Amino acid sequence: MTMDGGQTRRWVKDGALGAGRMRYGADYNPEQWPREVWRDDMRLMREAGVNVVSLAIFSWAHLEPRPGEWDFAWLDEIMDLLHEHGIDVDLATATASPPPWLTRLHPEVLPQTVDGTILSPGARQHWRPTSPIFRDYALRLTRVIAERYAQHPALVAWHISNELGCHNLYDFSDDAARAFRIWLQERYATLDALNDAWGTAFWSQRYSEWDEILPPRVAPTQRNPGQQLDFERFSSDAVRDHLRAEAAVLAEISPNVPRTTNFMVAGNVREIDYASWVGDVDFVSNDHYLVPGPAGRDDLSFWANLTGNLAAGRPWFLMEHATSAVNWRSANTPKRPGELIRDALTHVGHGADAVCYFQWRQSRAGGERYHSGMVPHAGPDSRVFRDVVQLGAELDALAPVTGSHREQARVAVLFDYESWWVSGRDSHPSDRIAYDVEVQGWYRALLDLGVRADVLPVGASFDDYEVVVAPMLHIVTDELRARLEDVVRDGRHVVTTYFSGIVDEHDRVWLGGYPGALRDLLGVTVEEFVPLLPGERIALASGATASTWTERITRVDHDVEVLDAYADGDLSGAPAVTRRRVGTGTATYVSADIGRDGAREVLRGLADDVAALRGDVRAARGDLEVIVRIGADARFVFLANRTDEPITVARGGEILSGGEPIGDIAEIPPRGVIVLQTGLEQVGTAPLRETAAVLG
Ligand code: GAL
Repeated sequence: MTMDGGQTRRWVKDGALGAGRMRYGADYNPEQWPREVWRDDMRLMREAGVNVVSLAIFSWAHLEPRPGEWDFAWLDEIMDLLHEHGIDVDLATATASPPPWLTRLHPEVLPQTVDGTILSPGARQHWRPTSPIFRDYALRLTRVIAERYAQHPALVAWHISNELGCHNLYDFSDDAARAFRIWLQERYATLDALNDAWGTAFWSQRYSEWDEILPPRVAPTQRNPGQQLDFERFSSDAVRDHLRAEAAVLAEISPNVPRTTNFMVAGNVREIDYASWVGDVDFVSNDHYLVPGPAGRDDLSFWANLTGNLAAGRPWFLMEHATSAVNWRSANTPKRPGELIRDALTHVGHGADAVCYFQWRQSRAGGERYHSGMVPHAGPDSRVFRDVVQLGAELDALAPVTGSHREQARVAVLFDYESWWVSGRDSHPSDRIAYDVEVQGWYRALLDLGVRADVLPVGASFDDYEVVVAPMLHIVTDELRARLEDVVRDGRHVVTTYFSGIVDEHDRVWLGGYPGALRDLLGVTVEEFVPLLPGERIALASGATASTWTERITRVDHDVEVLDAYADGDLSGAPAVTRRRVGTGTATYVSADIGRDGAREVLRGLADDVAALRGDVRAARGDLEVIVRIGADARFVFLANRTDEPITVARGGEILSGGEPIGDIAEIPPRGVIVLQTGLEQVGTAPLRETAAVLG
């Protein structure tokens, strides 16, 4: 649960990531196209301002067509061609998808699903993370590629595998079983300790030999929760182990070229604890795909914000997003006008110094032929390519932003991968609650109030935050409890919600009443959870509504104020929202799922006491998201229009991109982003208020 090393291990020397300009580009798959298209690609890349591509990600079968037989002629040629055109390369180790000969020779590398199905080749990533055979072949390929290209002038970064664990994270094979046992022995040392942690006295599950332990495969009914949690931790670590193995080969052969792998910090990927991976890359990279519809923009902001905090505020690489539609949702709608540039610049605001897409040229064949690219099927005479060219120009203008750090907010919204895993487990009081929805609800409520917040990995320090919002923080260890108590003891503020503090690190319930580990901090005891049936709604006195979850609070300490009460049903009159005061500090508890609107009102209610919750004048209507980056001698204020209407602001700074000044004002188009540059002297003196104010 703690961040590995707290931040990125080594930072990239200037020049590797940015070289004083925004990086712009895409995954480039020239092996899908005849050579005559390559020249056209170079011309169009120049026209768009592309200066980096990720190459050879899925090229294993082209590079090693038969075991130990290599064909590098095409890759040599394209590396040289890119270099001639001033385009740098983030070169893949090409190990993401093994070629047909490998799985024919060694079907034992194929992963096994929870019900015993062996996954076949024919798609991608059909390998067991713990297979020693696969590992040998992958490291041999990594070594050969590293030796061949380490000195190539186009090379700026190594791209390890691709989206590690995307399709093969949970492997239930015998290889996985063996590796799981070793992982457990390192964690617990003795079987007694493991039996205690997993509560195996229940249902005759007690282990007497390590070899009796299996991955949690399909079983007659509810599987052991401790075993499931450790298998999830193990699986995240097993794929990280593969990352480390490839990284070690690259470090030996090519120590001066930074290494990365593209994370999937996004709402549809909860299985990997990226906070524990950041120490294994030289710079953080992320892939994000927009959720279509009105919530999509805030969803993007949330994950970009978390990525920025995983990168400890330092610049990171947006390795993939889409110019328009993807091909893997049930209906794949194109981006609306303005969204291509808005999405890219929102990532930049949250600290990205590189904006890249999947992929350069939309494929003609294969499973992703309907996924958008920078050059669509229609060709360059298209809306998408015109936007791509415009974005290239805007990124060019944003060169001064590169290398700047994101300014820390005063409010943190905690994010805990393990609480996400465990709160969504089977055999729970309700399967209608969702960790990511709850956390995002509070983040969106803060955006609505015009309050900047950092989405903070739970292992990071809370020291510099005035308010710590911890929605559904389900797992709370003694150590985490103490850190939260410190916040309040220091005169700062904690806000937490239902189903928090319930279990320890083994998913064993804290006894004595809920919210378990947080009971003393909050000064309340909950005797029973009262989840709601589908269609049921419970009103609170304030007008807020719960639709999935309520709780019976039976004890409220003398120093606790009841802020809101249930107004309906069996709980009518009972406390629903409480606040304990400790000196000038406060601990607020929200026992029901009151959604984004309810969260906004709770936060608004606290704002009298808590300056950090008052928001910025110009963002107070919640129409703008404000993001700030701080450079050596300037600050950069990103104002992102969250609405479909134009917004006029007093500009208070030079416009770097996103609009033309009209006297002292500037207009931010619907779904647009404007970037202002101001002097550093405004830092610390109500900086945002002076930068720009919403007019009218
Ligand atoms: C990512 C992957 C890319 C491409 C993209 C499509 O998961 O890394 O190779 O498949 O999704 O959205």
